[in-house]
Amino acid sequence: MRFDILTLFPEYFGGILASSILKRARESGAIEIGVHDIRSYATDKHHICDDAPYGGGAGMVMKAEPLALALEDVLKFAVGHGEPPCPVVLMTPQGRRFTQEVAHELSGHRQLCLVCGHYEGIDERFTECAVTDEISIGDYVTTGGEPAAAVILDAVARLVPGVLGNDDSARFDSFGDGLLEAPHYTRPAVWRERATPEVLLGGNHGVVERWRLKESLRRTALRRPDLIERARSGESWTELKETLWRELQTETP
Ligand code: ADE
Repeated sequence: MRFDILTLFPEYFGGILASSILKRARESGAIEIGVHDIRSYATDKHHICDDAPYGGGAGMVMKAEPLALALEDVLKFAVGHGEPPCPVVLMTPQGRRFTQEVAHELSGHRQLCLVCGHYEGIDERFTECAVTDEISIGDYVTTGGEPAAAVILDAVARLVPGVLGNDDSARFDSFGDGLLEAPHYTRPAVWRERATPEVLLGGNHGVVERWRLKESLRRTALRRPDLIERARSGESWTELKETLWRELQTETP
């Protein structure tokens, strides 16, 4: 899968791309990432990419033309005339909320273009004719779209086959089946007088799986009851989950 990021701050992505899983995934060819400096597409002497808002008001607005030139060069299509070859996603607190479900949806594309806004916003005409999707990472405002693009890049890339060492790690992580994960433990078995649950030390995989599923239900009910409602009406709510869920209801706290 290929990711193209349009930003005024390409250096922001240096550390992210040079570390850990994304670095390895790029080296192995599982993903390609292009980071493109919008400023280099501004045609005036000072490479100006923002201007005061028409109608007055605080802050600056990103100009449409450098963004359009960058997008045309990177995706090879005529903004305002042609269709982009892949989703063009604008990072904005006004967008639809980013979730694991959206990450899965985006990971189904061969290419993804992430556009980072800055200043007070970007010229609406660019959004109208070039953006196909708008995404928010939550109900708060960051100084620009870069943190959002980093989050989306990471969450989508790890779903691409071959990116994680073991594909099971993506399948079984929190939200994979709409539930939070069960707690994890590693050596030593007793740490500062706190013991690891006995069931995890016994080596019986069936019993461990059942325990994990039940703890996953317990944790989700406690921390995110809204997810239980959704999971119960979904396809991945198995008979075993229903049985364990009923058992939990009868437990005394
Ligand atoms: N830009 C500023 N805040 C944002 C948010 N919450 N999500 C996506 N892009 C943003």
